[in-house]
Amino acid sequence: MVEVKLQNIVKTFGETVALKGIDLDIKHGELFTLLGPSGCGKSTTLRIIAGLEYPDSGKIYFGDEEVTYLPSHQKGAVLVFQNYALWPHMTVFDNVAYGLKLKGMSREEVRKKVEWALELIKLKGFENRYPTQLSGGQQQRVAIARALVVEPKVLLLDEPLSNLDAKLRLEMRSEIRRIQRELGITVIYVTHDQEEAMAISDRIAVMNVGTVEQVGTPKEIYETPRTEFVASFMGKTNVVPAKVVERNGDRVTVEFESFRMEGLHYTGDSDTVVLVIRPERIRLNPVENGVSLTGTVDLVEYYGFFVEVIGLFGETRLIARTISDRGLEGLKPTKPVTFYIEKDDVIVLPKQQL
Ligand SMILES: Nc1ncnc2c1ncn2[C@@H]1O[C@H](COP(=O)(O)OP(=O)(O)OP(=O)(O)O)[C@@H](O)[C@H]1O
Ligand SMILES: [Mg+2]
Repeated sequence: MVEVKLQNIVKTFGETVALKGIDLDIKHGELFTLLGPSGCGKSTTLRIIAGLEYPDSGKIYFGDEEVTYLPSHQKGAVLVFQNYALWPHMTVFDNVAYGLKLKGMSREEVRKKVEWALELIKLKGFENRYPTQLSGGQQQRVAIARALVVEPKVLLLDEPLSNLDAKLRLEMRSEIRRIQRELGITVIYVTHDQEEAMAISDRIAVMNVGTVEQVGTPKEIYETPRTEFVASFMGKTNVVPAKVVERNGDRVTVEFESFRMEGLHYTGDSDTVVLVIRPERIRLNPVENGVSLTGTVDLVEYYGFFVEVIGLFGETRLIARTISDRGLEGLKPTKPVTFYIEKDDVIVLPKQQL
């Protein structure tokens, strides 16, 4: 059993504070993703877990054992990079066998293990090819096999799919999920692609400039973001600056421009807030216990299986997404439109300095 625990990890590079005190609790057998924009500290976190870099302060545990300053070859965490880093002069077999030979395993054992790994990644029969004779996806599989064959306690994947085209990316991410489930190993996965993170992960940590803003299942992160940053990072959404003008227990009245919404849930201190409203939660027909906003149509965009209606409410643009395009014929730019939203679908969060 390998739980990975990070306690208050701080890392600076000269003037840059790359990690400002990271705490994480990753469970055994979990596919855990670090998600965040470029430069937020994802790779640094992985490199520290791998033992390729050491923190300025803080501790790392694998299970009960503290491993903060163990060098990478003793740690049992193997990192796979986005550029695969296969040895070009070695065959697939030799690339995968490399780590085992270093361990001094017998030829027969090595052969068995490599066979097992190639079967797992569905590349049996490719033993004698060289990396240049493989597609990007196949090279990435070999890199994963090479990591798995040494039976790591933890597999670390840093943007493993970013060099692949869109279709291969989808295939490979299911493949990674399958292998992870089959082996039941702990995987820590890094990406800046929120959709990829949602599709693949048991849990996600959303990072922003060296801090973790929220940890949760994809559903928790998407449906109940705790900060404005998390809300706006998780896919296309409406974020409207507003003011709390009245409070009644945990319900508040807010105003933006000339619009007023009553009975929204909010318990924060600050009266300067944002309203986060997912486009698919905005309806074009009245809803029970809802609020409504009347404005004009700015644009209607047809995406095939859904349609987006962009409404203009004063200066504020709101996107509504609806699956059916029936009944939308009357919606033409400059014509009036009313958006309806259930009160509990308006997430009120303190305004954040982004
Ligand atoms: N070796 C280094 N020397 C100096 N600064 C570094 C070094 N490594 C990382 N940094 C800085 O630390 C911060 C975090 O970098 P990191 O590589 O962890 O980001 P990231 O989240 O992986 O970004 P990306 O999505 O672009 O890969 C950045 O500001 C980066 O410039
Ligand atoms: Mg990185």
